[in-house]
Amino acid sequence: MGKRATAARTAFGPMVIVACEQYLPEPQRLIRDNLALRFLPPAVRLLTGACKWGFVRQALMNKAEKSAPGGWAGIACRKRYIDDKVSEAVAAGIDSVVVLGAGLDTLACRLVARADVHAYEVDLPSNIEYKQAGMRATYGRVPRGVALVPVDFETDDLGNALVKNGLRIEKATMFVWEAVTQYLTEEGVRKTLAFLSKAGAGSRMVFTYVRKDFLDGADFYGAQQIYKRFVAGRVWHFGLAPEKVRAFLSEYGWTERGQAGRSEFASRYVEPAGRHLPVFGIERCVYAEKL
Ligand SMILES: C[S@@+](CC[C@H](N)C(=O)[O-])C[C@H]1O[C@@H](n2cnc3c(N)ncnc32)[C@H](O)[C@@H]1O
Repeated sequence: MGKRATAARTAFGPMVIVACEQYLPEPQRLIRDNLALRFLPPAVRLLTGACKWGFVRQALMNKAEKSAPGGWAGIACRKRYIDDKVSEAVAAGIDSVVVLGAGLDTLACRLVARADVHAYEVDLPSNIEYKQAGMRATYGRVPRGVALVPVDFETDDLGNALVKNGLRIEKATMFVWEAVTQYLTEEGVRKTLAFLSKAGAGSRMVFTYVRKDFLDGADFYGAQQIYKRFVAGRVWHFGLAPEKVRAFLSEYGWTERGQAGRSEFASRYVEPAGRHLPVFGIERCVYAEKL
């Protein structure tokens, strides 16, 4: 399988976690998403659906914890953090939401169903085709207000593609870039940020990154299995050091407003839900604004 195809397939795992969370009693869920099961392939949907039984859910969580310790809560919490930031942006009257590397995420469909915003989902052509088929099967068409935009961040012109699909770049926009930067080269990340530097004043962005010391093999954060699969397997390329994020973003006119990771997710989401789950330390979320 080519590198792009491998990256494209990583879109499934996060939504399995989100879908499984929906079978827990409401107050215990780390993330709420009534569409989570919608775009998973039939066989995966069947397996995930079996998670309504506690013993199947527990078996899946145990398996996930074994291969990626702290990954279950880490992924569910980053999605919750992003949902919270997008809800704040929509409440503040943002014009559009652009989901970069959307995978099977349901944010755009949930948003356009409840608010008067335009949503753009960007991903590799194979995932966009898959998503389009899934939306047609579910709704009969791509929902009004959602645009599906095929782009390879490494080689294509993201700005052109979005503008062609109607994005008004001068308006305040919310950008979501979740679990994508690590799959890109530094050049691909910088190319994307060069486009984001043109975003209108009042724009917001939430993105995730993998710690550079993990990618360098200096600290495994207890995640040796992930290292073996994604770093040694050359699937992940790009990482940042938390203290370097501010300067990196400022090169592109963005101001870091906050970061969240293991400890914030534990105290903000996991403990209040009464769950006893570890959160991995290799990935962090950044919230930034364009002044
Ligand atoms: C781990 S998935 C995350 C999906 C989604 N953001 C989520 O968190 O549920 C990584 C996503 O990045 C996309 N991606 C990776 N490399 C890309 C590239 N060069 N251009 C566009 N999308 C890319 C993949 O296709 C995939 O959908």
